[in-house]
Amino acid sequence: MTKEILLTGDRPTGKLHIGHYIGSLKNRVKLQNSDKYDPYIMIADTQALTDNARNPEKIRNSLIEVALDYLAVGIDPTKSTIFVQSQIPALFELTAYYMDFVTVSRLERNPTVKAEIKQKGFGESLPVGFLNYPVSQAADITAFKATLVPVGDDQEPMLEQTREIVRTFNRLYKTDLLVEPKGYFPEKGSGRLPGLDGNAKMSKSLGNCIYLSDDAETVKKKVMSMYTDPGHIHIEDPGKVEGNMVFTYLDVFDPDKAKVAELKEEYQKGGLGDMKIKRYLNQVLENELGPIRERRMKFAEDLDSVYDMLLAGSKKANEVANQTLEEVRAAIGFNYFKD
Ligand code: TRP
Repeated sequence: MTKEILLTGDRPTGKLHIGHYIGSLKNRVKLQNSDKYDPYIMIADTQALTDNARNPEKIRNSLIEVALDYLAVGIDPTKSTIFVQSQIPALFELTAYYMDFVTVSRLERNPTVKAEIKQKGFGESLPVGFLNYPVSQAADITAFKATLVPVGDDQEPMLEQTREIVRTFNRLYKTDLLVEPKGYFPEKGSGRLPGLDGNAKMSKSLGNCIYLSDDAETVKKKVMSMYTDPGHIHIEDPGKVEGNMVFTYLDVFDPDKAKVAELKEEYQKGGLGDMKIKRYLNQVLENELGPIRERRMKFAEDLDSVYDMLLAGSKKANEVANQTLEEVRAAIGFNYFKD
């Protein structure tokens, strides 16, 4: 049976948080273990460089943290090929070719990139590489002929651009070489974990995250600081559960749905204190994060092995990407010296 190829990745600009876990890491572990797929998971250091060129040590330091986060959540290098983007030269060449199939205005219209440009406040100093990263992402995906890309919802515009590039390439060069990918997104409603402060997005720049590497004490402190219902002052007061982060997180993390329904009812009636539900949430989180943290610590004891694993993954990824590059050059007609 030929397996479906899956490719995904993350930019290493810090450690991964429980929003990443809910938004895509869990799905990757699930798909990896289904044996219908051949998964490639890429640490996108080149993409991270597009807005961190003056800060490469941040990427260098984050690379190993992201690798540890992957191993900690259960991404298994015997089932998933974990590799490093910058170590795959073919990706750069594919990117360069694909740049000829995409207009500047199309890139400027990519909603995710547009939002990021605004958020980062580049103004006149927008790096060409940053605007172009959807094109390099198309190279990442097509180099492996991936059909499935498990990512958060915000990545759909990258997949749309990839499909456009694939169609343009195949049409221009009369081939079916490149493959259109589909996204694999978290179930509706469970995909985006809001921040501790109630902001719609958990993000490092907003300082509202719980990291997979946080120790138990830190997680507890963060849970205790979570945004609940500002109108819920006395324990007896009726409280709101909508927009209350403790209940939002319980909905996501607590397998005991009946218990959550009961707690919500009690909270809305009045008589359930914030401290008490926060302690309960902390326990629920600890049940899930405790084993992840322990595995992370084990892997962190032997970083050499983690780097070896990345090297082995990158070697394998190079073979696949080089093969596709050969085919792409031939499709364009740049295979002058072949017999
Ligand atoms: N853009 C992704 C992020 O923001 C990282 C990434 C790079 C990626 N190349 C990819 C994801 C290819 C999926 C497929 O983290």
